[in-house]
Amino acid sequence: MPMRRRTFLKGAATTVAAGTGLFPHVWVKNTGLAYAQGGEIKVGVLFSLTGTTAIIEESLHKATIMAIEEINAAGGINGMRIVPVEEDPASDPATFAEKARKLVLSDRCVSVFGSYTSASRKAVLPVFERQNNLYFYPTLYEGRECSKNVIYTGAVPNQQQDDFVPWLVEKFGKRWYLIGSNYIYPKEENNYCKKLLAELGAEVVAEEYVPLGHSEFSSVINKFRSEKPNVIFSTVVGDSVVALHRQYRAAGLDPETMPMASLTTSENEVAAMGGDAAAGHFTSAPYFMVWDSPENQRFVEAYRSRWGGDKVTHFVSEPSYFQVYLFKQAVQKLAASDITPPTIREAIKGEEMVAPQGRVRIEPENLHTWLWPKIGQCGSDGQFTILKQSETWQEPDPYKAYPNQRCTADGLKEV
Ligand code: ACM
Repeated sequence: MPMRRRTFLKGAATTVAAGTGLFPHVWVKNTGLAYAQGGEIKVGVLFSLTGTTAIIEESLHKATIMAIEEINAAGGINGMRIVPVEEDPASDPATFAEKARKLVLSDRCVSVFGSYTSASRKAVLPVFERQNNLYFYPTLYEGRECSKNVIYTGAVPNQQQDDFVPWLVEKFGKRWYLIGSNYIYPKEENNYCKKLLAELGAEVVAEEYVPLGHSEFSSVINKFRSEKPNVIFSTVVGDSVVALHRQYRAAGLDPETMPMASLTTSENEVAAMGGDAAAGHFTSAPYFMVWDSPENQRFVEAYRSRWGGDKVTHFVSEPSYFQVYLFKQAVQKLAASDITPPTIREAIKGEEMVAPQGRVRIEPENLHTWLWPKIGQCGSDGQFTILKQSETWQEPDPYKAYPNQRCTADGLKEV
């Protein structure tokens, strides 16, 4: 026995030395503490309540908090209460990283739910990888990431574009204008779009990026007029979505002949711009608020009753909500003393549930989620009509644009 204890301590000392990094005091202080303590388990909630993406992140925060409240009201996880530690990273990637370090190292959260933009996810990633903690990310994103420290519950490009792009080409035509915000997500998402368009013999007449928070689209709209594309493919995010749609409408352009097709315009941005500005345009997503299922009816009613009868749900708030339940399912498989980020990661692999959009599942190979693609057209009431839906859930393939690479449970592989 004493021998075993010494061996353990020696191992622990090595771990401390290797893991100290910039925060030796915090790491040493926390060594040996269980994550589940006093009938409570702490999680971080890291969504912007201020700044340019607060327009959407505020609703992700609300959906996350509602799921935590529901789980606690129903008895918690094996009797333990989830305690959310809430931080506002103000739509700023550097602040995201700073707050993530606080949540993981000082607050000792066992997982963190957070982020809308890929810029903010990329900013926090080193924190979660270095500390071997877990980040639950609910947003559609560009793929090309294979981290064992992120659970990805939003759509990747194949889940939003494989049905959408051919459908739009057939319906509207082959001359496409790509407009996005200027950061990694729109550029990578457009790489996949261009690949699909090339396969369909379609043409990109322009590819343009505007700064995050951009609100003056008159020169862009003049180019829409002169280029006369058949489809405007938009990966603009945040407040800019509202400005782009309003200025498109004010310019008198016609969605029947030059629609915007978006991967980022949800009921939430539509509520901010007014339904008239969005009417006639298209979005591809695994979830729309109008989706007819008992689980969705319950979700929408609970959300409105908690946050206000005028509030909308959408394709990023829905995964923000269901990913907390997947976390719960994973944690409840563990004894309290075994609850750590790595044990949660193992326990969540292959976990399934019936979410508001339909049955979803965490793919054990790459920690992304099987989802149900749909195509919606917005009406002037601010709600989408679902025009097409996938007959089955669709596998997440985060490297589909890079066929010689594959994300596996053992990391990124060349194939
Ligand atoms: C995004 O930046 N993943 C929308």
